[in-house]
Amino acid sequence: MEEDDLNLRYLNYIEQLFAAEDSALQETFNAMRTNGLPEINISASQGKLLQVLALAIGAKRILEIGTLGGYSTIWLARALPPDGKIISLEVDPHHAKVARENLDNAGLSNYVEIRVGPGLDSIATLVKEKTDSFDLLFIDADKDNYSNYLSQAFPLVRKGGLILADNTLRRSNLDDSPPSGTGQYNQTVAAREDLVSIVVPALRRRGMDGLTISFKR
Ligand code: SAH
Ligand code: DHB
Ligand code: MG
Repeated sequence: MEEDDLNLRYLNYIEQLFAAEDSALQETFNAMRTNGLPEINISASQGKLLQVLALAIGAKRILEIGTLGGYSTIWLARALPPDGKIISLEVDPHHAKVARENLDNAGLSNYVEIRVGPGLDSIATLVKEKTDSFDLLFIDADKDNYSNYLSQAFPLVRKGGLILADNTLRRSNLDDSPPSGTGQYNQTVAAREDLVSIVVPALRRRGMDGLTISFKR
């Protein structure tokens, strides 16, 4: 379709100008393929957006839910200062193994801790450990749990921090009754007075999607 062609040209324009992948990111994508991981990582332009947001709030500690092969983890880790840290939660041990190899290959192992297990359990553990608060939370795992991730991890995010959620603007969000996991998530953050939120459309090779951005007052 003509419109798809045009979207692809916009996407290529953005990614060539602002979000070119270096060899570590390309190798990460290739390793995901070789190891049979689904190709559902964020796009390069979204990775750059995450990076800009992390830098803008001076993020030192980041919590990610849904590691996959570490592609988004690399974009985020590269926004950290030398003493920064990203903890990434992943339920699938195979994904976690591939991600660790990719992060090692990118020279970022020292910045990253991957915890294997259901995300909600790992968050509960972080709460029990009285972990330091996080500047940025990135939710990108099983969509039905988005609202649970928000409520459980919310106390771990500092005031003035950001909560980001991927895959929040899909066709299913338009005819949303009963609301999907991400539809519910959007409704929740839109209504919360302690958050200032917006969903930003994201152009992707496979069509429209979006990232919800919430600022914690
Ligand atoms: N953030 C990644 C993509 C994540 S895809 C990127 O952009 O590069 C979603 C990931 O969430 C998958 O690896 C999947 O195994 C993981 N996942 C699914 N259910 C989960 C759960 N309950 N807890 C933690 N991770 C989960
Ligand atoms: C899909 C895309 C994602 O970004 C994700 O986190 C999960 C699934 C998908 O296109 O199926
Ligand atoms: Mg996603």
